Amino acid sequence: MKLKTLFLTAAFLLNLFVGCNREKDLPADREMNVFVGDLMKKMTLEEKIGQLNLSTGGGFFTGPAMVKDNKGLISQGKVGAILNTLGVDDVTALQKMAVEDTRLGIPLIFGLDVVHGFRTIFPVPLAQACSWDMEAIEKSERIAATEATAMGINWTYAPMVDIARDPRWGRVMEGAGEDTYLGSMIAAARVRGFQGKDLKDENTLIACVKHFAAYGAPQAGRDYNTVDMSDRSLREWYLPPYRAAVEAGTGSVMTSFNEIAGVPSSSSKWLLTDLLRGEWRFKGFVVSDWTSIPELIPHGVAADSSDAARLAINAGLDMDMEGRVYQNFMNDLVASGKVTEETINNSVRRILEAKYKLGLFEDPYRYCNKTREANEIMTPDDVAFARSFAAKSMVLLKNENNTLPVSKKVRTIAVIGPLGDSRENTLGGWGAAGQWDSCITLLAGIKAKAGDNIRVLFEKGCGITGKAEDGFASALAMARKADFVILALGESQDMSGEASSRTDISLPGVQMELARRVIFLKKPVAVVLFNGRPLTIAELDSIAPAILETWYGGTQAGSAIADLLFGDVNPSGKLTMTFPRSVGQIPVFYNYKNTGRPFDPRLPEDYFKSRYQDSPNTPLYPFGYGLSYTTFKYSAVTMNKASFSRGDEIEASVEITNTGNYDGDEIVQLYVRDRVGNVTRPVKELKGFRKVNIKKGETVKVSFTLPLSDLSYYHEDMSYDYDPGEFELFIGPDSDVREFVLFTVR
Ligand code: GLC
Repeated sequence: MKLKTLFLTAAFLLNLFVGCNREKDLPADREMNVFVGDLMKKMTLEEKIGQLNLSTGGGFFTGPAMVKDNKGLISQGKVGAILNTLGVDDVTALQKMAVEDTRLGIPLIFGLDVVHGFRTIFPVPLAQACSWDMEAIEKSERIAATEATAMGINWTYAPMVDIARDPRWGRVMEGAGEDTYLGSMIAAARVRGFQGKDLKDENTLIACVKHFAAYGAPQAGRDYNTVDMSDRSLREWYLPPYRAAVEAGTGSVMTSFNEIAGVPSSSSKWLLTDLLRGEWRFKGFVVSDWTSIPELIPHGVAADSSDAARLAINAGLDMDMEGRVYQNFMNDLVASGKVTEETINNSVRRILEAKYKLGLFEDPYRYCNKTREANEIMTPDDVAFARSFAAKSMVLLKNENNTLPVSKKVRTIAVIGPLGDSRENTLGGWGAAGQWDSCITLLAGIKAKAGDNIRVLFEKGCGITGKAEDGFASALAMARKADFVILALGESQDMSGEASSRTDISLPGVQMELARRVIFLKKPVAVVLFNGRPLTIAELDSIAPAILETWYGGTQAGSAIADLLFGDVNPSGKLTMTFPRSVGQIPVFYNYKNTGRPFDPRLPEDYFKSRYQDSPNTPLYPFGYGLSYTTFKYSAVTMNKASFSRGDEIEASVEITNTGNYDGDEIVQLYVRDRVGNVTRPVKELKGFRKVNIKKGETVKVSFTLPLSDLSYYHEDMSYDYDPGEFELFIGPDSDVREFVLFTVR
């Protein structure tokens, strides 16, 4: 152990000894406070400012790079954390610079976007959300944390919990979709998975909930664009998932690029101090997004870089990701009194506490374990889990005449389409250390499943984009030879993700024309979709016999899809983001307001109603929708009472019968409508769900218990409570459920 580390450890033990004489039974956080306090007393202002700087280690860039090589800065003590460097050797090399070349040897934290897996890649988060399986989601993050920490990472820039109602925005693939209740549960599950029971454990890492806040609501669905909404919408729909992550104990928060009603998140004292630390009691540290601090200049709230640094640090933003404005201007800002040393100390303390909690002061190389790196990556169990999780994340959107599963009589399958065998479009965006060559494509998955009994043919037919139709002829000729055709269509993975907004979210290129020609052959056809966002596929839906939404399923995507297509797994996923009929409908989501002139499709002659002249109001597929190979019949809802008093609990249940020929999982959803509020209320709100397995022919009872406080909302005066009145309670297979039971609160 290096002299400096010895010195620090000795100082720590001495203080502990002294501390014990002063205060008995020092709990862990008081030990930490003593250690961090003593360390800070030794630090110069320059060394403190160094801790506020997050730089790339030169591995790869996930934003506009300001400086390519930061190694010199590390040795000068001007870097507190590194992002995008992974691998025990590379992490060790940089850590040695911090620990051995600097005066106090303060270790670095190493961050990476571990968003849906590290080397074993799971479905993109929007797909995972469609599993509605909190246990599986938490487990996937546990595996991701184990793999990432085995390769030197101890901080992830996840979970991304931005509620999104606009599929033109490319980053919908990173989140959990449009619903606040479900999104909040998923946020907490991800933090638990990442952070485990103790950050000191070598296979846990610090989570970083992002992007705080409301990044998912950019005007026109254009990434980084203005966000402007009422306080009530912000608090009712967009803030709860971040709060759920804070309450689950996230160690860090990342600010978003956007403004909210005129104030950029990275300079919002209300957001970062009053709300996050004041109201929510957040104790961790806040990091900017990539250069979001200097971006306060183009936002038009900072005159120059120094002004940007001042605004951000005084708002409560602790660490500057790649902006270099803390590094370059903080000294002068303190000297001029525009920033107090106390403000600096508060930020530095939070960062040092994170390092302490990770155990980095005890052993800066605790995440540099070659044995773990060799043995804990892509284990067979984890890869098997990736396959089963992917299957749960996929959604059967249509299955006319039981086109699927593929009949056992089939002898020749034609796989047609640009995504049929595309390794580079299997993992999805933010694939961390995922490797294309370890991906199972759709074609590979089908061939493995088919074995020698079924001939599997493949033609791309056309590109993902482009106008070329010269591949059609061979594709159609091949389709004519087949008993069953699988059309592999969709987007390339770089059509969603950061800086990937699109105004046209239909099938790109000439894929729809290819689909028309193939479907016209009247063979049994199943469309397999690869996409990172809801697409406008109304025409495809009108002609395709079967459609399976597979999103980007990760390392085992092809195997999972084959399991579903051949019926070895019964589809159970349900959408967590509405599919619009057209871009013109956007934003369209399930928990909409009724308006004063609601349109009733049963009364089409009613002219002066909230409607379109050229489209129904309803989406193509609603939130919560997804089919199974079997069918489920719901009984009427029964409740413990019809009238409730404050403090009561609602008990509601249904009986569900599996009326089909397959055992299956059903995601049972409970919605509530508040008929009369102090402000207008949505026509439905998800307030509970259960995922139940029901054997064919069996009936199960599914029960929910709901505290009346779950009916609370923000009133006109922003008080948060529930009122007496009439409510509708729905339990059904998706948000389009119509039957309800009326109950009252006295
Ligand atoms: C990017 C993304 C953010 C990511 C960060 C580091 O710009 O907005 O989600 O965590 O930079 O890669």
